[in-house]
Formats: sequence, C-alpha cells, structure tokens
Amino acid sequence: MSTITCIEDLRLAARRRVPRAFFDYAEAGSYGQETLRANREDLARVKLRQRVLVDVAERELSTTIIGEPARLPLALAPIGLCGMQHGDGEILACRAAQAAGIPFTLSTMSICSIEDVAQAVERPFWFQLYVMRDRGFIRALIERAAAARCSALVLTVDLQVLGQRHCDIRNGMTVPPQIKLANIIDMASKPAWALSILRGKRKTFGNLAGHVRGMEDVTSLAQWTNSQFDPTLSWKDVEWVRGLWPGKLILKGILDVEDAKIAASTGASALVVSNHGGRQLDGAPSSISALPKIADAVGAEIEVMFDGGIRSGADVLRALALGARSCMIGRSYVYGLGASGEEGVATAIAILARELDVAMALTGIKRVRDIDLGIITQ
Ligand SMILES: Cc1cc2nc3c(=O)[nH]c(=O)nc-3n(C[C@H](O)[C@H](O)[C@H](O)COP(=O)(O)O)c2cc1C
Repeated sequence: MSTITCIEDLRLAARRRVPRAFFDYAEAGSYGQETLRANREDLARVKLRQRVLVDVAERELSTTIIGEPARLPLALAPIGLCGMQHGDGEILACRAAQAAGIPFTLSTMSICSIEDVAQAVERPFWFQLYVMRDRGFIRALIERAAAARCSALVLTVDLQVLGQRHCDIRNGMTVPPQIKLANIIDMASKPAWALSILRGKRKTFGNLAGHVRGMEDVTSLAQWTNSQFDPTLSWKDVEWVRGLWPGKLILKGILDVEDAKIAASTGASALVVSNHGGRQLDGAPSSISALPKIADAVGAEIEVMFDGGIRSGADVLRALALGARSCMIGRSYVYGLGASGEEGVATAIAILARELDVAMALTGIKRVRDIDLGIITQ
C-alpha cells in the first residue's frame, strides 16, 4: 500500500483494488445522491472554535457506548456484503474493531454468518436486524444472535422499501445478479481481491444460506431477499422484537424528532440518527442537520448515536458537539477493508482516532465527555 495519510487515501487504494461493481456499491447513494452529498457538505459547514493556550497535555478519548466501555466514541456500522470488499471481510473488520476497543456491527446481509464471526473473534459483537416478512425466520435469526452472545441488537428501521442506486443497476448488482462480461474482465484484473474472495469462507449471504428452505443458490436467495423487505413494518414490530430480545436494543435510522420521541419511549438503549448513508430517501436532510433537534428532544431519555458522512476525526468532534454520544462509521472503514483487509480497517480507525485527538487538543478539549456545543462557532 502507498503511504496512507487519511481516509481519502484508503478510498483511492480501495478503488484500485476492488472490482468496480463492489466499489460503486459501497460508494453510492440513492437516486440523485442529494442526501449523500448533503451528509458531507453539511458536516464541513460546522465550524470548530479554535482555542489556544489551554493545557491539553493529557487527553482521554475513551467513553462508554450503551454502557459498554469503548476506547473511542466510535462503532463500526452494519454494512451489507462486507465480505465482497475483501474475503472474510466481516471477520477481519470485527477483529480490527475489537483490537481497537470499539463495537463492530454485523449486518443481516453479511457474507460471513453470525456463527462464522462468533467463532473467529474473542469478544461479543453487535448484530443488525432487518425485520423481514418471514417472521419465523426473523425469530430464528434473533435466537441465533442471542446464542452467539451478541451484546446488542441494532434494529434498522429505515428500509421498509429499497432506495435505488443507479450504478448498481448499470453494474449488474441487481437481484438476481447479472453476470456481465465487463464485470468478469474487471474482476479478472483484480487478482489480490479475487484471491481473498476465493479463500474466504463463503460467497453468498451467510445468515440466510442454509436457513431459508429451498434457497440454496445465490439467485433464488437474492430473489427471496428482495421479496422479503416488509412495507407493513410498524412500531408494533419493534415491541415484538423487544419481546424476543432481552438484551440491549438500538434503533437505527431515525431522522425526525417525532420518530425520535417514539423511539425513546420503546425502552431501547440508543437510537442512531441516520439516513442510511444517503442510500434511502434522497432529498432527506443530512444526518448532521437532523442531529441537534433530536438530541435536544430526547438526549436525556435515550442515548443518541450518529452516522452519515464521517470521514475525519474533526467530523466525529462535530457530531459529538452537536449532541451525539458516539458515531458509527460506514464507508470510512469499508474503504480500509477494500484497500487491505484487517490492516486497512485498523488504519481507518487509527486515522480517525489520531485526527480526533488533534482536533480535541486544538479546540481546548481534554476528554471526550467534555465535548459540547461550546466548541462550535459560526
Ligand atoms: C455499502 C453499504 C452497505 C450498507 N449496508 C447496511 C446494512 O446492511 N444494514 C444497515 O443497517 N445499514 C447499512 N448501511 C448503512 C450504514 O450502516 C451506515 O448507516 C452508513 O454507511 C453511514 O454513512 P457513512 O457511510 O457515510 O459513514 C450500508 C451502507 C453502505 C455504504
């Protein structure tokens, strides 16, 4: 890998190494990508207050996230098809997160299964759940997450229907997948990636394969999955999930104050202010613009997490100042994974940690828990 100084370097390295269809899948937002762009642009608009001559020799980046000690105010967000950025991608990302002392979230749509990851890592991780039409399957999935000793269930609530990403259609990342000649040629030109995928434990949706009857090949599994997203999903289903999952619950994908208030009344441990990384409702506000109102309305009742557009430690500082207790990162670590597997994810986390540390020092902040609105300026 050439010299890596920032998340953008990891992005460029991933672009060189990962076949276009999978790189684009990670990169893109839905439709005109307005919300995707707004996530980054609005973060950059939040100006930090430079303070000088404050003794900041001793700095402390650790915190707690839903009561669990974390060495940084960060968690790895659930990412579907992580194992297509790098073979065994979910296991590698989980190991990097645990080595850095932060939570990892396994997606329902992962390549490695819950059991694969549980066997390969030492400590509990979080499991992200999509509630699908087949409630029997979902009940079994929740039981599997409990059996694997997952320490939190992250229930994603912003995907009742799927937003469209144009590039996925052009690249044949459709359901069922199209095998296009251009993709085959492209994949053949990425030997390190191809080798890592060949060596990986699995090549399909690990949590679903073998658990949905009659759905053994990728095509029928993909068709099943597509027909399973459930537009009838409602707050009643959140209650249903709570009844099945005795542990900590996180509601991910809240962008509106009214929804946040309902989320706070469910007894969940945390909510994540998120627009799914600009991949669902295009035209929705950026996550950072929605955060302060939500934190004001419910911050005292429920822990507020944040995601959407975090590419630097300064971005983490901005989100914490505007009311989040911690941030989830998505693409920032996916780029690291695509660039160089576990080492790349570790590098992404280390970059964000170092940048956060410097940004704290230059805003006169010594401890993560002291970050507040006072460090924001016009
Ligand atoms: C490639 C990709 C796949 C994703 N898959 C899931 C998923 O399976 N479940 C989920 O809850 N969110 C998923 N998300 C959303 C992320 O968890 C997170 O909300 C988003 O990436 C945050 O924005 P950021 O990428 O700008 O950090 C995905 C995002 C990306 C980029």
